[in-house]
This record gives sequence, structure tokens and C-alpha cells, in this order.
Amino acid sequence: MVETADAPAVSGTPLPDHSVVPGVWSRITNLDVDRGEGSWLITRDGERYLDYSSGIGVTNTGHAHPRVAAAVAAQAQKLLHGQQNILYHEPGLRLYDRLRTVLPGGPWQAFLSNSGAEAVEASVKLARVATGRPVMMAFRYGYHGRTGQTMALTTAKDVYRAAFEPLPGSVYHTSYPYCYRAPGGPHAPEACTCDWEAQLDLTFHQLIYPEQVAGIIIEPVLGEGGYIVPPPGFLPRLREITRQHGILLIADEVQTGFGRTGEMFAIQHWDVEPDIVVMAKGIASGLPLSGILAHKELLASWKPGTHGGTYGGNVVSCAAANATLDVIEEEGLVANARERGTQFLAGLRALKAKYPAIGDARGLGLMVAIELVKPGSGDGRTPDPDLTKRIQAEALSRKLIVLTAGTYVNVIRIIPPLVTTAAEVDQALAILDESLAAAGA
Ligand SMILES: Cc1ncc(COP(=O)(O)O)c(C=O)c1O
Repeated sequence: MVETADAPAVSGTPLPDHSVVPGVWSRITNLDVDRGEGSWLITRDGERYLDYSSGIGVTNTGHAHPRVAAAVAAQAQKLLHGQQNILYHEPGLRLYDRLRTVLPGGPWQAFLSNSGAEAVEASVKLARVATGRPVMMAFRYGYHGRTGQTMALTTAKDVYRAAFEPLPGSVYHTSYPYCYRAPGGPHAPEACTCDWEAQLDLTFHQLIYPEQVAGIIIEPVLGEGGYIVPPPGFLPRLREITRQHGILLIADEVQTGFGRTGEMFAIQHWDVEPDIVVMAKGIASGLPLSGILAHKELLASWKPGTHGGTYGGNVVSCAAANATLDVIEEEGLVANARERGTQFLAGLRALKAKYPAIGDARGLGLMVAIELVKPGSGDGRTPDPDLTKRIQAEALSRKLIVLTAGTYVNVIRIIPPLVTTAAEVDQALAILDESLAAAGA
């Protein structure tokens, strides 16, 4: 065991072998972590890792932010569970009230649940009941979760759905404008001529009448599918089309929400107002909490008892969420995401100029990525998942944790906490530079 002055090794009984955890939890490290502080994870051996995974986009306020931790501890000593069908509690009432104004437009009302997938399920149930229409649509490369209904919406990667047929029906997928991989591309997003609108029109003429469609769900910036930022005109035009057909637009902001992209919600970058917003991850700094925001009259179409759950809006999670919103607001984390994101993307673009295997460097706010390809093969965009894995491993050996993404797992995705500093971003970029070189990019 390594001991450092400020991080003594944890003593006591040895941990059970890792094999007690089922292998279905595919994992990217074997670290036994003792604690977290801001952007850092500290192992039981006292080693410090720069955590640019943020627990998959959750710890936007950093690990164990003192204000969030204090709010959780104080609430835990008063009431751990106050079931929503039985009583009201102060943290919940405060949170429901705050969420009414967390996004411009509305009037919004929130419904609270536990996980991202559960909130996506809620959005589908609401869209169907509110419109009286049966069909859901989603975009290729999208990720919405691993429950039954959300698997049916998800197409980011085969493992998320391909072994689990039959999946719920009446779900249709249409093209997302992935400018880098567009036929004849890559296109610069500003000059993108992806034919997503023609494909949507074809879907309406070949597969399903638009008046049968309750809702279209979309991640404003694709997450698991590869951190893909859409071209500027896409979301405003999609909003026009959905309005024209009476289809609800559902923004899945599970990964993009709560400041991640440099706006409170990513959809705000395009000045588009959806009908339903799905929220989770960053909302409570790590405590399980999710929900939807919907126009108030839409939520009124749910009759009492038609949706709910034992733990939804848990009182300790609500206390964590209130403290999280305070921290985001008072520490200027949305602005920091914008500034650090600009710094990070500039650094990644400089790396792209240096390493031919980086086909694309992209992102919005602190949701940034590089796509790895085999430059000499095919049209120069052949995905290189082996190289991607090597880069991730080289980064880990230099104590930087980054994730992968993309249908072909050839994207390094970087999700720093929104509290990260300019010095930490520079450190991460230097490690990535060394890792790219070591991996043979
Ligand atoms: C966009 C998006 N939607 C839904 C989900 C599912 O959330 P959860 O894992 O909390 O069920 C995720 C999780 O990564 C996500 O990124």
C-alpha cells in the first residue's frame, strides 16, 4: 500500500475479491476507491485519479461537494424516506417549486422519480396519455436507458438491445444528422447537408402516419452514441415539424442537463422549447433522483395513480438536489462549463492537427470527445476501437479517467465535473497528448 501524507491508506479487513460483482457490469478500471474530492478520486492506496468520467456525467458539482454532503447528512438524520403518496416534505416541495423555473418557457411542472430510464419511461407514458396516440419515435444513435421501453428507443449500440428481443413495439427510428459520418462527408456542422429531414418524411410516408405519433425523443447532444453535436438548424426545424403534426418533442437531457453543455439544459443553445424534458444524473450530484419537466396542462392528463413509484422524489435525494442547484447557481458552474469547455475543445483540436488518427474533435461545454479512425483505410473514416481502448488505458495508467462512446466504440468521451479548473484541463490535455503518442495514434 502506498501512503501519502494527506491520504493515509485505509486499514482494516481486506476487501472481498472483485468476482463478487457480476460481470454484466462491464468496467473500465479496477480501482478500489475510498473517496472523492472535486475532480479527483482517491483509492484505498491513496492514489489520486483525475476523474473526467464524473460517474458517467453525474458529479457535476464535483465529488462530495461539502454543501451537498452537508445537506444529505442533515436530512438523513431527520427523515430518510417520506413516500410521495403519503406525505409532503420540505425538500421535495422546495425542489418541485424550483424546477418550475429551471428552464425558460412553460409553465413547467416536474414529476420526480429515481433513474434516467425511469424518467424516460414516464415521458413515454405521458406522451401517449396526453395525445391519445400510440406511437413513439426516436433517433438512430440515441441512448435512453436499459429498461424494456427505453431499450426499444435506444439504438446507440447493439449491446444495449440486441440480445433482448422482443422489445416493446410501436417505436420507429429515424436519421440523426451525424455530420462527420454523413455520406460524402465529413461535413462541417455549419455547412451540413445531412438528409435527416428527407428521411423523417420518408418514415412518415413508408412506416407511420405522423398523426399516429405521440412523441419524438431526442438527446440534444448525443451521449452514448458518440458525443455528437447536431448542425445549427436541426433542432429548430424539428420543433417546427413536430408542432405541425401535433407530435410532442421530448428532450432527453439526462446527460446534457444541469449545466453540462454550458447552458442549464442543452436545448437552450438552439432556443427551442420542448414539450417534455427528461432529467437525471447531474440533478442531485450522485444521489438517485430523476424526473420530467412537462407543460403543466400535459401533466394534468395523468389521472391520480396512473404513474408513480415507492422511492420517486426521495427526501434525501431532494435535499441533495436543492443543494446541487444552489452550488450550480452560486459557484457559476454553467459559465465555468462554457469556459473550460472552450479551453478543452481548443486543446482537442490542436491534438487533432497533430495526430492523424483523430478524425474528429467535437463537443459542447464540458461534453467533449475525439473520434478515432484508421486514416489510411477506406474513406479515411474507418473506426478504430482498438486504438481507442489503448488510449483510454494509457490515460488511466497516467491517472486520468475517461470514457468511450459511439456505436463502434471509437470515441474517447470526456465528462469533467463542472467545478474543474483551467489547470486540471491543461493537465488532462497533456496526459491525452502523451496517451495518444504512447498508443500509436
Ligand atoms: C441520454 C440518457 N438517457 C437516459 C439514460 C438512462 O439513465 P439511467 O442510467 O439513470 O437509467 C442515460 C444514461 O446514461 C442517458 O445518457
